[in-house]
Amino acid sequence: MIFRILALGDVSGPTGVKAVTDRLYDIRRDENIDFVVCNGENSAATNGIDARTGNELIKYGVDCITTGNHVFKRREIREYLDETKNIVRPGNFPPEVAGVGYTILPEKGLNILIMNVLGVVYLEPLACPFRTVEKMLRAAQGKYDISVLDVHAEATSEKIAMSHYFDGKIDIIFGTHTHVQTADERIMPKGTGYITDLGMCGPDDSVLGIKKEKIIEKMMMHTPVKFDFAEGPVTLHGAIFDYDTEKKRCVDVKRFKM
Ligand SMILES: [Fe+2]
Repeated sequence: MIFRILALGDVSGPTGVKAVTDRLYDIRRDENIDFVVCNGENSAATNGIDARTGNELIKYGVDCITTGNHVFKRREIREYLDETKNIVRPGNFPPEVAGVGYTILPEKGLNILIMNVLGVVYLEPLACPFRTVEKMLRAAQGKYDISVLDVHAEATSEKIAMSHYFDGKIDIIFGTHTHVQTADERIMPKGTGYITDLGMCGPDDSVLGIKKEKIIEKMMMHTPVKFDFAEGPVTLHGAIFDYDTEKKRCVDVKRFKM
């Protein structure tokens, strides 16, 4: 049996959430999707993620939400992270903070392990992402059938290094955070399905989802500006991974853009 996973890149702002919730039912049906994971850390109207957008994404067909460096931007997210099994935050935050770095969700008789980690190059100096993922794999050992990792990171080199380090040890690895889809999807030498960045589910006429005028002002004037999400047409970006339950590995990965 082929178990098909759709991974969607950073869902950005209200128009991004609306595009996902409007289209996901049809996408799931047309593409024979068994499981959907999306990065939702920019889904709230004021950046970050809140219970409203989290619940909305889950209600309309997202099975698991991963996050990243903006996860704690909204204070109320802490309770939500502790209460909800379908959302993870980077596992390399200190253990005292709310939420968990991995979850195991059942689907079609299989247990799907979803892990989330934050890169440390050009980002917060959190615990080593490599060792954090090793720790999560050890903790989940024997409890899952398919493993998925979202590396939320700025540097392409860090994501590629992780894909090599965990090649053959994790079934599916994808990167998020840059909001720009990369064209390097592939099956790694030892069998891991990989892409460096899924891209964004957010407004096309923007700079990474934010109103272009605001970003240009910030870059030209070097004075503080309020980042507002742009609106208008949205392209959903991500990747579709096919996991073969007989071969017990990912056999195909293709970029998704709609
Ligand atoms: Fe991010």
